[in-house]
Amino acid sequence: MIYNMDNKTIEADAYDTDKAEHPHYLRSYEQYFRPLLDKEIRLLELGIYRGGSLLLWRDYFQKGLIVGLDLQPVTVDDASGRIRVYQGMQQDTALLDRIARETAPEGFDVIIDDCSHIGELTRISFWHLFDHHLRTGGLYVIEDWSTGYWDSFFDGVGFSYQPNLKFRPKLFRIRSSLAHLQRSAPRLRSILRPLKRLLNRKQFRSHDYGLVGFVKELVDESGMADITREDNGRPPYRPSKFREMRISPGQVFIVKA
Ligand SMILES: C[S@@+](CC[C@H](N)C(=O)[O-])C[C@H]1O[C@@H](n2cnc3c(N)ncnc32)[C@H](O)[C@@H]1O
Repeated sequence: MIYNMDNKTIEADAYDTDKAEHPHYLRSYEQYFRPLLDKEIRLLELGIYRGGSLLLWRDYFQKGLIVGLDLQPVTVDDASGRIRVYQGMQQDTALLDRIARETAPEGFDVIIDDCSHIGELTRISFWHLFDHHLRTGGLYVIEDWSTGYWDSFFDGVGFSYQPNLKFRPKLFRIRSSLAHLQRSAPRLRSILRPLKRLLNRKQFRSHDYGLVGFVKELVDESGMADITREDNGRPPYRPSKFREMRISPGQVFIVKA
């Protein structure tokens, strides 16, 4: 088949992968993957079940090396020689180092985590792979992050609606004066800071269980330049490690700065 590279779509129906059940996942992947189509990319997927998604990526990236990891033994029928499969745990950082050394010594272009969907395990492999084995400009995708809203899931907890604080005009005026004072009298900052923290508390309620909690940690990383500002934050300054973070239903896309 001859593909028009600009329009090549990811057709998952013919493959043994649950990605076929989520057409919106595939459309988002297309947006990020198109510029990489004819490149010799290195892609790592954590969690491969029966290997169907590896075959899908192999056929989509005609020059790519496709690497998979799963705690179960997985055998993939691949005549191309462009697929490598490893057995082990996503949280085993020594194994992740070995995989990277053997398959992507210059770093992966794409890493997809479709693995345990457990917050603390996802966190270990994310920071290890992101910091050490993802190229600058590389893409890290976390799938199915909303398992953190499922009561039935390992570390998920059902969402219970908690109303945010009501708008109270008097309190708002006090907070407004406080903000004004903070700007005009910086030397009072150490007194005003805890007061402000107290008066602004619990305005917004946040569900932070499991993978949902980890995604919110990643939002903080996106704000790192402001968190560490010399004037208004907690120095020493450092910019965010992320060039972009996009959250969509079921997927998080992060581009490394
Ligand atoms: C949702 S399935 C993967 C589906 C596959 N990516 C696809 O698109 O067809 C999740 C896989 O993660 C594996 N898994 C779960 N916890 C793991 C862990 N801690 N380390 C490695 N693999 C794990 C499971 O064995 C399972 O095969």
